[in-house]
Amino acid sequence: ARLVVLVSGSGTNLQALLDAIEADPSYGARIVAVGADRDGIAGLDRARAAGLPTFVVRVKDHEDRAAWDLALAEAVSAHRPDLVVSAGFMKIVGKEFLARFGGRFVNTHPALLPSFPGAHGVRDALAYGAKVTGCTVHFVDDGVDTGPVIAQGVVEVRPDDTEDALHERIKEVERRLLVDVVGRLSRDGYRIEGRKVMIPA
Ligand code: GRF
Repeated sequence: ARLVVLVSGSGTNLQALLDAIEADPSYGARIVAVGADRDGIAGLDRARAAGLPTFVVRVKDHEDRAAWDLALAEAVSAHRPDLVVSAGFMKIVGKEFLARFGGRFVNTHPALLPSFPGAHGVRDALAYGAKVTGCTVHFVDDGVDTGPVIAQGVVEVRPDDTEDALHERIKEVERRLLVDVVGRLSRDGYRIEGRKVMIPA
C-alpha cells in the first residue's frame, strides 16, 4: 500500500512507521510522501532524512479554510495514496478532503475515545483524574476524533504524572499500535460497516 503521512510536530509516530517498514520487507506498505501544515518541524526533517518527498500546506497561505482543505487534498492526491495516516497532524480536514480520502484516512489520538477528544486529550484526562487513559487509532469522519475505532491501547495514569510524562508513556503504546494497525490495514484489507471496522484475521 502507498501511504501518505501527515504530521505537525516531532514525527515520532512517522519515525516508528519508517523504522517498521525498513525492518520488515513484508510489512506491506511504504510511505510515498510526508505532508505538514507547517514548516520547521522535526517530522519533516525525519521525512527528508529518509529521502521522502515532503509538502507543506499552510492555512495562512490560502484565502479561507475551504481553499486550504482543497489544496491539502490536491497535494495528497498527487502521491496517489492508498491510505493516508494522520500521525500528530493537528488540523481538522474538511469536506473536500473527506470526499477524496474518507474511509482510507486514519488518525491516532492520545486518549481512549470517545473520552477526551480534541487537541488536549492528555491534559484533559489528567485534569479529569482518570486512572487509565491511552490511545486510539480510528478512521477520520466529519467530526473531531469521532470516526470508527480500529484499535486502542491502555496506559495507567500515575499520581505524579505531568502532561509530558504521561504523553510520553502514551506515545510508547501509540507508536506500536499505529504500526500494527497500518500494517494490518495495508496487508489484509478491511471493511467499515457503520462504526465497526472488519479486518480479516
Ligand atoms: C501523538 O501523541 C498524537 O496522537 C498527538 O500528538 C502526538 C504527535 O507525536 N496528536 P509525534 O509528532 O508523532 O511525535
